[in-house]
Amino acid sequence: MPVTLLSLIFAALLTGAVANPDVGEMKYLTTLVSPNYPDPYPYDTTQEWILETAPDEKMTVLLYSLELERFWDMLSFTHISHQDNIVTSYRLGTNAVTSLSLASGHLSVHFCSDRVLDLNGFALNIFTADNHIPTNESDIGDFICESETQSISYSSRCDMIVDCHDFSDEVGCGVCPDDSFHCRETDVCILPGLQCDGWQDCPHGDDEEICETLKCPAGCSCGESPFNEGHGPQSQPCSKPTWLSFWVNCSNTWNGDYAKNTAIKSTVINLSGTPLYENLEVSSFYGLHQLHAFYLDSCQLEYLPPGVFRDQNRVWRMALFNNSLTYLENGTFEGLTNLRALYMEHNLISRLDEGCFRGLHSVFIFDLESNKLSDLRHGTFEDLGGSLERLALEANLIRSINSSLLAGLENVLQVVNFQGNPIVEIAPESFTQMQALEDIHLLSAKSISLYPEIFKFGPSFQTVLVFDPRMCCIMPDGVTCTIIEPPHPLFTCRKTFLQNNTVKVFIWILGISALIGNAIVIYMRLTGKSKSSAIASIQSTLITNLAAADFLMGVYMVILAVMDLVIGDTYFWEGRAQEWRSSLSCQIAGFMSFLSSEASVFLVTLISVDRFICIIFPFTLRRLTVGSARLAVFMIWIASILLAVGSILVNKLNPDAYSLSDVCVGLPLIRKLTDLNSEIDAYTYSQFGHTRYNIVASSSISTWQFSIAVFLGLNLISFLVILVSYIAIFFKVRLTRQEVGRKAAGSSDDVRMAFKMLLVVGTDFFCWMPIIVLGILVQADIIILSSDVYAWLVVFVLPINSSLNPFLYTLIERIQK
Ligand SMILES: *[C@@H]1O[C@H](CO)[C@@H](O)[C@H](O)[C@H]1NC(C)=O
Ligand SMILES: *[C@@H]1O[C@H](CO)[C@@H](O)[C@H](O)[C@H]1NC(C)=O
Ligand SMILES: *[C@@H]1O[C@H](CO)[C@@H](O)[C@H](O)[C@H]1NC(C)=O
Ligand SMILES: *[C@@H]1O[C@H](CO)[C@@H](O)[C@H](O)[C@H]1NC(C)=O
Ligand SMILES: *[C@@H]1O[C@H](CO)[C@@H](O)[C@H](O)[C@H]1NC(C)=O
Ligand SMILES: *[C@@H]1O[C@H](CO)[C@@H](O)[C@H](O)[C@H]1NC(C)=O
Repeated sequence: MPVTLLSLIFAALLTGAVANPDVGEMKYLTTLVSPNYPDPYPYDTTQEWILETAPDEKMTVLLYSLELERFWDMLSFTHISHQDNIVTSYRLGTNAVTSLSLASGHLSVHFCSDRVLDLNGFALNIFTADNHIPTNESDIGDFICESETQSISYSSRCDMIVDCHDFSDEVGCGVCPDDSFHCRETDVCILPGLQCDGWQDCPHGDDEEICETLKCPAGCSCGESPFNEGHGPQSQPCSKPTWLSFWVNCSNTWNGDYAKNTAIKSTVINLSGTPLYENLEVSSFYGLHQLHAFYLDSCQLEYLPPGVFRDQNRVWRMALFNNSLTYLENGTFEGLTNLRALYMEHNLISRLDEGCFRGLHSVFIFDLESNKLSDLRHGTFEDLGGSLERLALEANLIRSINSSLLAGLENVLQVVNFQGNPIVEIAPESFTQMQALEDIHLLSAKSISLYPEIFKFGPSFQTVLVFDPRMCCIMPDGVTCTIIEPPHPLFTCRKTFLQNNTVKVFIWILGISALIGNAIVIYMRLTGKSKSSAIASIQSTLITNLAAADFLMGVYMVILAVMDLVIGDTYFWEGRAQEWRSSLSCQIAGFMSFLSSEASVFLVTLISVDRFICIIFPFTLRRLTVGSARLAVFMIWIASILLAVGSILVNKLNPDAYSLSDVCVGLPLIRKLTDLNSEIDAYTYSQFGHTRYNIVASSSISTWQFSIAVFLGLNLISFLVILVSYIAIFFKVRLTRQEVGRKAAGSSDDVRMAFKMLLVVGTDFFCWMPIIVLGILVQADIIILSSDVYAWLVVFVLPINSSLNPFLYTLIERIQK
């Protein structure tokens, strides 16, 4: 930003000069700044200040910041001298003026700007002094205009832009170059672009004389209009009141001859939809210096000859979208020094030659969406490094992102969009150097490998929009990470398959103890001597089957433990969670766990109901016999297998109704986010009329109806049955005790068995109940469980019962003896 630097240096030197007693006595009068300085000024500003000095005082205006947008913003001073009432106007539009030293009098300062928030405006100090303040030429490198009332930075001398109100900075500069405008009766030359721009630049005003203002090429429609799209020449009050923007709309064709037959003052050329592919030549727009908006979209353009925009240094908006451009050559955009918005989306660009963005010093937004860019050379965009804040690269073919891609834009780029690229790799530290970067849209449907250091950002970073929710897990603190669609409900930020070492150790212990314990129980029951009583025999059958169910839970846990060893860290960093969830191992594990859970819930219910019938209706004939118990158990296994098979099928057919989590069970403890809203990116819209969207999810719905039906519905009913049975048994026993006396009631085999089985039933009940209650709370949208809590519940609360049961059986055996 050379202008800023320069003015900073001047500011430093000037404030130094003020403090320097050698320079003379100065009294501070006032400071004038553009509204909102030092933040960019608001648009459509016009502001006026009036200052007056005492008759014997001089007035010195020191500009410590003058950052006006060339052509469109204007700071002007009108000075009326007390002594002779001479009116002098100073126009400051170019950042070159450094100070004014005026005789005593009346000073009015007028500022106007257009709508685009671009540079900072101005800040100036005004002093009064009783004698002339000598400006030290060698100190600040200034050029003092001939009238000695104005000084400008030396670099602006002979630049063909008049800065001194008396034209003296452009006098004596030698022969006028060919393409400049030679002012009548002087040796002042001005840039061709200053001709017919509504402002008099020549001493005699001849630059505004022969403008043929309404010249329109045959076959086109043209017209004057005060409309300026918020940027560019204004009808009032920044430019001359009589000066209006000039439109040229053509739809047949366009070439250099058209340009020659078009008024020099044309400000907008709209060739949108005009087939130009063969006609665009280097000279197509020569001589049109006042253009500030260019519409060359949908023109079937295949090639832009370098130099075609040579004369267009006022253009701020260029639309080149929906053409067939395939590459950009060195120098294509030469001349577009004030271009702010460049739209090249929907082309076929695959090659960006070195130097293709040469000369684009001001581009703020650059849209390259939907092109064919793949491998981008190191520092492709570095020529835009002075100004580019928004870069749209969505829907290209970029496969890898690394720090060299955006090299050169470190200090300016604020928003970059990579949405819809087939990105397979993001190199570590790709964004570390980006000092100004605030927002990245990093969407990629692929699971890519991540590294801990990928997302190291510069100090300005605020938001990132991603597709892969894992990326949000490794964002630095303070960064807002938005996921384009809600992640899998069970997505977690865990870096490894099982959370931590405690879980890893416990899952091995619980798994192996469930396997061994239940295996022993089954072996003992099968080989042990057959039970003498029917009750004992039935209980033995039920317990053997319960042990078989718990054994399956052990298998499930060991599968998870082994998979943890196999998957480990790659689970997160290589994004293998989804792969694991849909793997055969996970489906087998899920089947086992589902089967085991349901079989044990039903078996426990059967045990309770059996006890209930025996105790409440001791004389009924409908109590379980050994045969009917076997049949019931058989039915339970069939039902459980059907449910478990169902879960796997539903998982495949309709993942919304049931899907496997990382631990391969889908408990209904999670809701699904829905209602994606698009939010308009207000800043881009207000500045450039360009619509961009950010996406947010706003609500959630119940999901996994299958899981709700089984785990909350069926299981809750089973546990209510169990609860009711045992409450009934409890009261019945108390009642009987009161009626018959302590001894009689306690000695009943049935009752004893009921209380023994309470151990098994109760632990199962207490392992399940929290999950059911949580499930109801979650589905009622009262609480939200994190996926990590979920995994703890599934890995611990449910299986712990299976590991515990063998010990409980042993305990029961002991009580029996
Ligand atoms: C201007 O600056 C030069 C070099 O810094 C110094 O020698 C000279 O005295 C200054 N002149 C005035 C009028 O301050
Ligand atoms: C050129 O087209 C623009 C947009 O369609 C329109 O606003 C303008 O009035 C047109 N100018 C002429 C002279 O037809
Ligand atoms: C350019 O002209 C086309 C048709 O002539 C019109 O649809 C379009 O709105 C114009 N664009 C602008 C920005 O005026
Ligand atoms: C793109 O350009 C073609 C002509 O080249 C035109 O037919 C089509 O309507 C344009 N599409 C859009 C979206 O502007
Ligand atoms: C681009 O063109 C300019 C002017 O012709 C030349 O100076 C420069 O070296 C070229 N750059 C490359 C990379 O070819
Ligand atoms: C960045 O990636 C490109 C390929 O896309 C590669 O050619 C280049 O060497 C990489 N640069 C660095 C610094 O890794």
